[in-house]
Amino acid sequence: MSVLDDPDALRAADPSGMLDSVGASADDCETGYTAGLAAGGLPVTGDLTGVTFLGMGGSAVAGDLTRALFRQRLGVPLDVVRSPELPEHCETRSLVVATSYSGDTAETLAAFEEAVERGCRIVAVTSGGRLARRAAEEGIPVVSIPGGMQPRAALGHLAFTTLGALEAAGVLPRLGGEVRETVGLLRALAAELGPEKQGNRAMRLAERIGDRYAVIWGTEGIGSVAAMRWKTQINENAKRPAWWASMSELDHNEIVGWVDGAGADHFLVTLRHDGEAPSIAPRFPLSVDLVAASGLHHEEVQAVGDSALARACSLILMGDFVSVYLGLLRRVDPTPVEVIDRLKKALG
Ligand code: F6R
Repeated sequence: MSVLDDPDALRAADPSGMLDSVGASADDCETGYTAGLAAGGLPVTGDLTGVTFLGMGGSAVAGDLTRALFRQRLGVPLDVVRSPELPEHCETRSLVVATSYSGDTAETLAAFEEAVERGCRIVAVTSGGRLARRAAEEGIPVVSIPGGMQPRAALGHLAFTTLGALEAAGVLPRLGGEVRETVGLLRALAAELGPEKQGNRAMRLAERIGDRYAVIWGTEGIGSVAAMRWKTQINENAKRPAWWASMSELDHNEIVGWVDGAGADHFLVTLRHDGEAPSIAPRFPLSVDLVAASGLHHEEVQAVGDSALARACSLILMGDFVSVYLGLLRRVDPTPVEVIDRLKKALG
């Protein structure tokens, strides 16, 4: 019998409660959105030239998601910076959203300081740390999120606080309907995919992937944000290498690499949703067919929901559960990321 078939064994193998954190995503999104909407002292945004999100790892996903959802709908460019260097275009009419769960991430802090120096309009999203202290010193608004979690487990807070605050600042349209749909859907999905539902499809997919290396494909936009999140969650929760690629870019390079035998110890997951561009969607079955000769195993995961926000979050939640189940199948504690902690310490 697999550890996944026994809810008590599952709980025992997950001493820091990553499954509970994943299961609480809907509540986190709801709380985060309300907190963001209530944020005070936000910068003036009527004449913005662009919005730049700063962040690394789990904290950067909030910016990725916002960018994927709104880049076709806003009149100003949105970009996500995973670097200590602030792009040259950031100036006094740029809105910079500095997101760091811990508030102590070196790259984010360096770019934040540069944004202060240049007189950008800034909002900090954090649970504390140096970012909160520096923002307070500079009179920069801080949208606070609860502490004590792993950053990657706080995505509901990070992303929905950001959405709420940007709505309150007048950058984003009203999102109440989409947020309500997403929260309801995540609640239902958590009940379907959680540890109490033995044999659920997240568990079965984790078992199918097993010791194979996961390769995740998603369409450019919300699909690729979800694909990258699956990859990083498998890295951190299952302590396994994994890869992701974006459709249709992958049709111009990656498919050439999947030659005879190359896929035998890999597992391809394609993330699909109803909002894919009609010119892109037909590429999936064709591309999967082309790479099948490499021995690559494959399963498709379809998003649910009407809004792009709900679809993106449904794909992300499925990946979060699969990554934790993969870790538990491999008998690793999903929560600690000692290698990251060690590296951050070594860098001072
Ligand atoms: C750990 C995690 C990491 C962190 C990253 C940046 O759970 O997800 O990817 O998010 O090291 O740290 P923060 O988010 O505190 O700025």
